[in-house]
Amino acid sequence: MRALVIGGTGLISTAVVNRLLAHGHEVCIFTRGQRPDGFGDRVRRLKGDRDGAEALKGGFASVRPDAVIDMVAMRPEQAQVCIDALQGSGTHYLFISTVCVYGGPLSPVPAREDHPRAYVGDYGDRKTRIEELLEGAWASGDLRSTTFRPSYTYGPGGLFDSIWGRDPFLVDRIRKRRPLIVPGDGLNLWHPGFVEDVGEAVALSVGRESTFGKAYNANGPRVMTHDEYFKSMAEGLGVPGVELVHVPAEWLVAALPAENTRFLRDIFRHHVAFDTTALRRDVPEWSPKVDHAEGVARTVAWLDREGKNRDCAERGLDDQVLQAFHRAGAQFSSELKG
Ligand SMILES: NC(=O)c1ccc[n+]([C@@H]2O[C@H](COP(=O)([O-])OP(=O)(O)OC[C@H]3O[C@@H](n4cnc5c(N)ncnc54)[C@H](OP(=O)(O)O)[C@@H]3O)[C@@H](O)[C@H]2O)c1
Repeated sequence: MRALVIGGTGLISTAVVNRLLAHGHEVCIFTRGQRPDGFGDRVRRLKGDRDGAEALKGGFASVRPDAVIDMVAMRPEQAQVCIDALQGSGTHYLFISTVCVYGGPLSPVPAREDHPRAYVGDYGDRKTRIEELLEGAWASGDLRSTTFRPSYTYGPGGLFDSIWGRDPFLVDRIRKRRPLIVPGDGLNLWHPGFVEDVGEAVALSVGRESTFGKAYNANGPRVMTHDEYFKSMAEGLGVPGVELVHVPAEWLVAALPAENTRFLRDIFRHHVAFDTTALRRDVPEWSPKVDHAEGVARTVAWLDREGKNRDCAERGLDDQVLQAFHRAGAQFSSELKG
């Protein structure tokens, strides 16, 4: 099949292109050309800004794709351009949404795709509205579309998450055996997905009728607690026994500036785990394969090679939080013990 990927050189989209190529598809990537790629002559490249609707429509006209994989639709009007251009054409439109459309806390956990959508933040709101547009287009019989909702997706090309969100200091902090802040009691659930598994989910769904009109969770094979997540990363870095300090999430959210705690407030303080039964039923060849240890090793190799890890001494916030927390703990004990 001929696939046009809007994006193709980013964290997840690189993996999508690699998996499309591995399955023998002909691939054209549409980007602004701001990042290098390693695809050589295996892909065709179109340069343009997807916000210039004419450039994108020109791309559709010249490639005549069987499938369009939209990695970077962030606003409803961007997706609308694709819907208008592709409806009635038979082209399969695959849209990358996010688990942020569910909001939190989730109930039940793990969440299935029919979990009520109660988005968190502007990002979840805009992705939800795109999903609704696609549902409308599918219901009216005009567009073959499939939606994917990855959770935290990591791999070569990106940073790991900590309580602060994507964290350039985390690897260095672990290597220097500095204690890590973990929200709550460390037992909240977390569901990482390695880029290759998410890319494979998308690539295997291209042109597949069983996926038309549906939305799918797409994540990794293992739900972990926060403690397991950080320990697994530390073990992968050869630093077992890293100290994890459990700090109440409410304290952090109440005491720190909103910009530092957005990720914690919206996502990391909730249980997040997502059921992938629907995707495995409709795309039986798919099952997530890359366990966290392997994913960490491959990501760390990339971070080191690309020089992406920053010296943790550049950010004093972690130690400031830990010192304040330990002082508060000492005060609490001394008051109660009299
Ligand atoms: N990473 C996660 O944990 C996660 C979780 C859930 C959902 N998602 C979703 O996954 C998608 C991110 O995929 P990704 O990791 O490949 O993204 P990415 O790393 O942000 O890469 C974006 C890609 O799109 C291109 N691009 C960006 N703006 C463009 C524009 N205006 N016109 C044309 N091309 C443009 C970029 O190339 P140029 O810069 O050269 O244009 C690049 O190829 C998003 O939709 C996000 O919501 C991610």
